[in-house]
Amino acid sequence: MSDYTKLTSFGPVPEGFIWGTATAAHQIEGGNTNTDWWRFEHTEGTGTKESSGDACDSFNRWREDLQLVKDMGLDAYRFSIEWARIEPADGEFSTVALDHYKEIMETARGMGLKNVVTFHHFTTPLWLADMGGWTNPVIVEKFARYCDVAVKHFGEFIDVACTINEPNMVAWIGYDLGAFPPGHKGDMDSFRTATKNFAAAHRAARPVLKAGPGDFPVGITVAISDTRFHLDGDRNGPETSPFDLPEDFPGAEHKWLMVDAYLEAAEGDDFVGVQTYSTHHVGPDGQQLPHPEGQRVTQMGWPFSPAAIGNTVRYAAAKSGLPVIVTENGVAATDDADRVEYISVALTALREAMNDGVDVRGYFYWSLLDNFEWASGFAPFFGLTKVDLKTFARSPKPSSAYYASLVASSR
Ligand code: BGC
Repeated sequence: MSDYTKLTSFGPVPEGFIWGTATAAHQIEGGNTNTDWWRFEHTEGTGTKESSGDACDSFNRWREDLQLVKDMGLDAYRFSIEWARIEPADGEFSTVALDHYKEIMETARGMGLKNVVTFHHFTTPLWLADMGGWTNPVIVEKFARYCDVAVKHFGEFIDVACTINEPNMVAWIGYDLGAFPPGHKGDMDSFRTATKNFAAAHRAARPVLKAGPGDFPVGITVAISDTRFHLDGDRNGPETSPFDLPEDFPGAEHKWLMVDAYLEAAEGDDFVGVQTYSTHHVGPDGQQLPHPEGQRVTQMGWPFSPAAIGNTVRYAAAKSGLPVIVTENGVAATDDADRVEYISVALTALREAMNDGVDVRGYFYWSLLDNFEWASGFAPFFGLTKVDLKTFARSPKPSSAYYASLVASSR
């Protein structure tokens, strides 16, 4: 912990502002076997720490999860529906799976909660991964077809739709870094193709979702790190903000693939989802520079920099011209006091951005639960709620009460 001024009141928010917390199907449901991720977790040499296994058993315990959201006095629950369950084989749709998600949404509505529904959160059905996944352009029309079937089944219960979650991370980590499926390293051609297909899939899904039933805002959610460029390659040298970069700097394509491609694809959307965890210092090629000695880092090894969100909402709003929803923001920490500090400083920075006129329509803390953190397994704790992985008992942490108090202060 460090010295910081603890925020005690967020103050009034514009009408319609949504407070919430987020999860994703594969990270909490358990037994999500028909996906590229499950196979990746069970393939030797991929670097994934452990299997997602039963995860938090939210496939069965989702009522408890909704109650936790309700108990915090939040407006909304952001969660994802699992494509591989809804469409277990090409063109074959499961009514049982569709009904399962419909029941969650109907129950949430009955409890006075809004449903913020993500249609793709990292996992791709196995049958589609075997066709080349995000590098095969056929995925564009398959994704739109799946969205069409899903929205027809439960669109009336959707309050906000997020088409694809962090396509930039799926493409970068999957095809360049190799730590997500399909585990390619330095495969720039696939990185570029996947980016193109992700953008096209988002654009194809939007009118399908807009056709309803239901009438709700549609957007894409993008991982945007607060990135400081050191064009001379010196971590201690001068910083250039992403607003001031020369057009032809060496990392221009990387920056486009990482962020701007999606802010462009968002043109005409109702909002853009901003997901920020940290500040990163990068060299002229856009690749991360080593941390200075003594850098305070989170459990993920990322710089502890809660104020990052203030800069990223400004960037996303200015670049896209759209209203922003902070669809994810949070910290992995063993000491919950660090999470309280993170929320306090992050929401102070968000308040400042809003005071400066940035059109922010909502904020979602990641995550409701300690859950399966992809290649890192269950060790990083992002949750407002502790989960016992044997009994699946949920215990809210002090940070959940603190977050709830700030939300209450805005009413
Ligand atoms: C993802 C989440 C993930 C979180 C923390 C985002 O990249 O959407 O699934 O757990 O950040 O790494």
